Amino acid sequence: MINKIDHIAIAVTNLESALETFTHILGCAPEAIRIEEVASEKVKVAFITIGETKIELLEPLSDESPIAKFLAKNGDGMHHIALQTDDINKETERLASLNINPLSLPKEGAGGKKIMFLHPKETNRVLIEFAQKKH
Ligand code: CO
Repeated sequence: MINKIDHIAIAVTNLESALETFTHILGCAPEAIRIEEVASEKVKVAFITIGETKIELLEPLSDESPIAKFLAKNGDGMHHIALQTDDINKETERLASLNINPLSLPKEGAGGKKIMFLHPKETNRVLIEFAQKKH
């Protein structure tokens, strides 16, 4: 089951300056911000909590990062929408039965959550992430 939009992600070339912009726009307290590095995606990530959901800012840590490739092609901008699910394996099976296949099997993402992505070709050119809720 899908519960809510977990986060909306924006690819940025400079995390520090993007974080300043978004904290100003949102008027949020420093406690609302969590920064981490995700080795599997070679990115530095800032999560800004807004009520029940979050904005994720993504900065590549290497030219090999998928985010570096995205930025080279598109520049800064909206990168993906993440949906929160209770059971990512069940969702993967459900989608497979509809002939919608993920880019990879569920893997570890930011915050130690299990995540997987659908190809934008199958989702009206919007990259969709599924993120399993922590139990
Ligand atoms: Co994400």
